[in-house]
Amino acid sequence: MPDGKTLVYGIIGDPVDHSLSPLIHNSIAEMFNQNFAYMPFPVKTENLEEAVKGAWSLGIRGLNVTAPHKENVIKYLCEVEETAGMIGAVNTLLWTPEGYKGFNTDIYGLDKAFANDGFDITGGDVILLGAGGASKAVGILFAKKKAGCIYILNRTIASGEALKARINGFFPEAKIEVLGLNEYDRIPNFFEKKFNVVQATSVGLNDPEKAPIYEEEFYKHVNVGYDINYNPLESLFMKKVREQGGTAFNGLHMLLSQAVGSYEIWQKGSLDE
Ligand code: ATR
Repeated sequence: MPDGKTLVYGIIGDPVDHSLSPLIHNSIAEMFNQNFAYMPFPVKTENLEEAVKGAWSLGIRGLNVTAPHKENVIKYLCEVEETAGMIGAVNTLLWTPEGYKGFNTDIYGLDKAFANDGFDITGGDVILLGAGGASKAVGILFAKKKAGCIYILNRTIASGEALKARINGFFPEAKIEVLGLNEYDRIPNFFEKKFNVVQATSVGLNDPEKAPIYEEEFYKHVNVGYDINYNPLESLFMKKVREQGGTAFNGLHMLLSQAVGSYEIWQKGSLDE
């Protein structure tokens, strides 16, 4: 039962009713026998400023932030940690006496999940499908970990170029090529190699019949395929990777690792990356 000493945490977004974060965080707290409560708080965009200020006044120790507020919330924070600044979005707020400090645990979560699942980045060429919000953390992690060449394949070339410019702004030495989704055959020596691929488009999300690329030829050259989504648990992208003998993962492990990152921030005030 909550009492006068209960530390309150939560998630703000719109919607939040399907979020797994309350389950994850309340389970972690239970495991460590902490006096902790984590609640979902649906917040409309027009109420975001009031919600953040109100939560701070109420002494809510930490918040996760999900769509559509991950970028907009930044203007209501007292400070933004470096990685979150690179991505231009936050997913974790930590209460401080000056206001909330913003963090982003996406890169931390991806890094932990990749390391655990044998998805090697350093030195090898990698393919990133997508150039939207979710792709930023992936691209920045690839550059940070010194991937060989990063091939960004996206439906809209201009968005791919914008992501490339963002990554090169922080990592000028990163080698990045932008191509259309069906231009994988323009990757040098594509047909002689196998690639580690991250699927970060929203194609296939909630729809097991859809994938960003359908041709079997592409999937024959996937070594490890990571779908950052976890609904469905096996996307068509993952199914096709497996059918061609590759290894595939969904985004659940990343989600859990991101949550562990938030938990660490709330316990220690920072994240060791
Ligand atoms: P998220 O935050 O989930 O990344 P987003 O920022 O809207 O969402 O990005 C969605 C990604 O999926 C983008 O890479 C988008 O491609 P565009 O930049 O061309 O819009 C990609 N995407 C969405 N619908 C798509 C479709 N039907 N076919 C191909 N790519 C699609």
